[in-house]
Amino acid sequence: MLIFGIETSCDETACAIVENGVTQISAVMASSRELHESTGGVVPEVAARKQVEYMVPVINRTLVKAGLDTKSASQKIDAIAVTVGPGIIGSLLVGVEAARTLALLWNKPLIPVNHLVGHVYANFIDQKQLINFPAIVLIVSGGHTDLVLMRRHGDFEFLGGTLDDAAGEAFDKTARLLGLSKYLGGPELSKLAASCKNNKLSGRLPRPMIDQKNYDFSFSGLKTAVKRLYEQNTDLKDSIACEFENAVVDVLVHKTMKAAKKYNVKSVLLGGGVVANNQLRTRMESMTQRSGVDVFIPPIDLCTDTAVYIASAAFFNFDMWCEKKIAVNPSLGIVD
Ligand code: KG4
Ligand code: ZN
Repeated sequence: MLIFGIETSCDETACAIVENGVTQISAVMASSRELHESTGGVVPEVAARKQVEYMVPVINRTLVKAGLDTKSASQKIDAIAVTVGPGIIGSLLVGVEAARTLALLWNKPLIPVNHLVGHVYANFIDQKQLINFPAIVLIVSGGHTDLVLMRRHGDFEFLGGTLDDAAGEAFDKTARLLGLSKYLGGPELSKLAASCKNNKLSGRLPRPMIDQKNYDFSFSGLKTAVKRLYEQNTDLKDSIACEFENAVVDVLVHKTMKAAKKYNVKSVLLGGGVVANNQLRTRMESMTQRSGVDVFIPPIDLCTDTAVYIASAAFFNFDMWCEKKIAVNPSLGIVD
């Protein structure tokens, strides 16, 4: 089964064709990121206008890469999948309208996909090992930090999430505070942390909510603590980056494994842009041996936003959508 996926939740215009939810046939992405770097954050109106500009060329190129054109696609493609939220409304609307048009043109079912659920399915692309359920899912992106119990495909129970800043947001704000980058500075901060050979500020930052019994997170206080620590140690930027990263990763790993134990799961799945972080990957990987639970970590290029896992999520949830006869209405709400 071939699914054509569209993802336009923020500043990326992405399309992909995925076979049976696991094999990437073609993937193309355009981004307006550079424009947002100059303003130090996404201007929703600018992002949405760029989506309009990029959408059709990205659709075309995705088809060409798969050896298709709009006519042959109508025979080969089985369904259209599209991100319906969360995200910037203007950006989402461009993707949803494009998806509805293709579904009408090719007479195919249209499957709405939640962006965060999409991140989870990055684990299924080219996966050689069987992913057994139940699983604990940690989604860590620029806007979300969520712990979710996944009992099977399409069956998610929210266990906890951030009460304020998301983990990615904390990385980005700390990178900005240290003067590393004005926009999405998580990777730069992580690079600086990795360069630190001797963390002179070890243990000087809190591990927020690590000992609390719930599965919630809070990172805004950590950001304030970094600010104070930096004011007193302006010459120890690398130690601050290292200590900050250690604090965030300590909390994420601890709470994820605590949930895995409590719910006696077979697998742990990671998803979201922050999963590109090397320390988080290494520490979670080592948990596979130590806990006996299989830990799945998507390849780095599938951590940040792409349409590949949107198409995959649609495949694994296809029957469910068909049974419920769900369609996407113009307001992005999901109607029977
Ligand atoms: O999932 P994503 O691409 O977008 C959202 O759906 O929000 O995540 C982007 C987030 C940004 O906050 C970015 O700084 C962070 O992921 N990120 C990282 C790394 N690479 C990306 N954070 C820490 N370390 C990294 N290596
Ligand atoms: Zn995302």
